[in-house]
Amino acid sequence: NDLYAVFGNPLGHTKSPFIHGEFARQTAQNLDYIAIEASPGGFAASLDAFKILGGKGANVTAPFKVEAFALAGDRCQRAELAGASNALKFEDGRIIAENFDGVGLVADIRENLCTPLRGRRVLMLGAGGAARGAALPILEAGPASLTIINRTVAKAHALRERFSSFGDIVSGGYADLGAGDFDIVINATSASLRGELPPITERVFARAGLAYELAYGKGLTPFLKLAKRSSVDRLADGVGMLVEQAAAAFAWWRGIRPATGPMIEKITVPLI
Ligand code: ATR
Repeated sequence: NDLYAVFGNPLGHTKSPFIHGEFARQTAQNLDYIAIEASPGGFAASLDAFKILGGKGANVTAPFKVEAFALAGDRCQRAELAGASNALKFEDGRIIAENFDGVGLVADIRENLCTPLRGRRVLMLGAGGAARGAALPILEAGPASLTIINRTVAKAHALRERFSSFGDIVSGGYADLGAGDFDIVINATSASLRGELPPITERVFARAGLAYELAYGKGLTPFLKLAKRSSVDRLADGVGMLVEQAAAAFAWWRGIRPATGPMIEKITVPLI
């Protein structure tokens, strides 16, 4: 069997082996997929050992996405622009870096949540690694505008500059967030991981039809609670994005695309 793995630390709760195992069964692919919790300074060595063992590819999650990108000899455009990689392929001794996080987000919004991005006004909170991974696929989906707001304003401006050739971007700090003229509000900050709320009020949701939390498995985060109180039609966490990025990596490795709907249904926890 061909061997794949997810690298990260911690990995205690990772759903990736389950998801890829089910994808393999569904598509009749002979592969094994394991979780490798590398030590904080040991990612490069452990990836190397995995390659020597015959590994064909890997997913990479926190905190190794930037290092994975740096180690790769070939980088696809999305990884290049994100400056980080969540999927690697080993080919003839070379490491190829991809990034399917943003692709997964956009697929989930468009296909599973049936919310078009084309022509919509999108607000993204955060300008860290997660936001950088999401920016290009969002812009490629053709929104009317993408507004990037971050606590450290300079990072929001830097993201705008990095992606300005791909679409209309407005950047600023939370103080610049005026009336809620947004159709889709995405929380790409890591605030929810600590139960915090970025400094927004209900006003940002005034016209929003979808509030999307990139974190998953946290139930109703402070961000989603505020959106719910503001009567946003549709609330979502990142579980669909997780499954969609997994399917994109699987297709990249194996040349066959698994269905994602049944898997999302299986691992979705109701947002209540
Ligand atoms: P990740 O890879 O999850 O994106 P990161 O690169 O450390 O992690 O970025 C974290 C993001 O969440 C940043 O945009 C950060 O804002 P700063 O750049 O100003 O630090 C944002 N963030 C974290 N906690 C936050 C909070 N309580 N309120 C607002 N933004 C927050």
